[in-house]
Amino acid sequence: MLTQEDTYEGYVLPKGTIVFANAWAIHMDEAEYENPEEFIPERFLQNKFGTRGLVDAPYQDHRRVTYGFGAGRRVCPGQRLAENSLVSEHLRESAFEHTNKKQMVNMAKLVWAFNILPGSEHVDAGIKAAYTDGFLTCPKKFPIQFLPRSKLHEQVIMQEFEAAKDILKQYEG
Ligand code: HEM
Repeated sequence: MLTQEDTYEGYVLPKGTIVFANAWAIHMDEAEYENPEEFIPERFLQNKFGTRGLVDAPYQDHRRVTYGFGAGRRVCPGQRLAENSLVSEHLRESAFEHTNKKQMVNMAKLVWAFNILPGSEHVDAGIKAAYTDGFLTCPKKFPIQFLPRSKLHEQVIMQEFEAAKDILKQYEG
């Protein structure tokens, strides 16, 4: 909330105005992201922001990789906890100097283990059909199949599951 009147690009924002960063608009900006609505993980090979590469260096200094956690003084204090939950145990120690690569380890394991396919013929992933309404939107439940990529993959998954059960036992009430 503004503690004093401010102006931004010609707009006068009176004292007391509540301002939210429009993360959706930031991430869907065609000037920065090529085909922003498409799933193109390779965009992050170009640079860690996944942008067209047109943004200059000084601007990148204060740029965030994602605005999903907000920005500024009220940025999510749980961000590191959330990100570290995606990292494998043996990488956790170094997770604070986090990079995209470390964060991707658990997701890379999922892709190694499973073919992830739509659960029905047609899944409409468009913003109007696939997400809840409102200021904060979430994906609605959708049918999906996780199929082990081979018998061998299945064996490894089951082996790891049995080992994990022992570790998780201590958290069961
Ligand atoms: C993927 C997981 C998460 C996402 C996407 C997320 C996202 C956000 C966002 C967008 C905000 C608002 C930031 C702003 O006002 O600019 C926020 C605030 C906050 N988050 Fe998270 N968060 C996540 C996980 C967590 C976790 C694990 C915790 C606690 C352990 C947490 C605690 C908080 C708190 C306390 C605030 C309020 C901060 C403030 O207003 O000063 N969040 N989060």
